[in-house]
Amino acid sequence: MKILVLNGSPKREKSDTMHITRAFLDGMKDAGRQDINVIHVADKRIEYCSGCFSCMRNGGTCIYDDDMRDVLEEILKSDILLFNFPLYCYGMPAQLKALLDRTLPLSSMAMRKAGDRYEHVEQADFSRLRYVMICGCGFPNAKRNFEPAVAQFELCFPSNRLIITVPESPMFNAPEAAAVTAPRLASVRTAGRQYAETGTIDCDLLAEIGSPMIPEETYAAIVNGGV
Ligand SMILES: Cc1cc2nc3c(=O)[nH]c(=O)nc-3n(C[C@H](O)[C@H](O)[C@H](O)COP(=O)(O)O)c2cc1C
Repeated sequence: MKILVLNGSPKREKSDTMHITRAFLDGMKDAGRQDINVIHVADKRIEYCSGCFSCMRNGGTCIYDDDMRDVLEEILKSDILLFNFPLYCYGMPAQLKALLDRTLPLSSMAMRKAGDRYEHVEQADFSRLRYVMICGCGFPNAKRNFEPAVAQFELCFPSNRLIITVPESPMFNAPEAAAVTAPRLASVRTAGRQYAETGTIDCDLLAEIGSPMIPEETYAAIVNGGV
């Protein structure tokens, strides 16, 4: 599988969330050979979309000649797009959102009805593409936190998608938390292997991965300096 990792954390490889993604990819590699390309979005020069729609009218060419041209080429060559990002203000970081906006040249102006809503018709056949979102966050609560990011990803990628959310993710960068992070990363690795082998992940495993690693109150007390 050709996997394109779009890392939206400005911390690049030092990202908390990348610990989860690396474990997931290790699991996929346990199942077979994978061709992995990681793009740290913060290293790319990506202009904000101007909203001119010329890309959708002019056969897919954006008015900006920046790094997004290479990113789009990479997307077109990939089988899986893996969006790695930390939750920022209940959504994705601005750099990654700018990249997502700039994927507009892959769509045409034409709209089609899909169930109870409309979506743009693609400029090419992307039916083989699978989409993975891996999102970490700083609060201990998974509920009333990840929902906006999850809803956006579900609407952008209505099918062939997998969403993994993990609260308390700064713990992945704390060696003293290894007693709880190592088993969680082992579960993520198992999930990666399952995903590579079956295209899906067992519901109970996904729920375990998305649950707090330590009780919410304990985590909050540690962050607040009380423990
Ligand atoms: C600008 C900003 C906004 C944030 N917003 C949220 C948020 O809405 N919810 C949350 O739980 N954590 C939030 N966080 C915390 C990060 O998601 C958390 O520190 C995460 O582990 C960082 O991951 P990274 O190292 O992969 O970048 C925010 C952090 C920053 C810097």
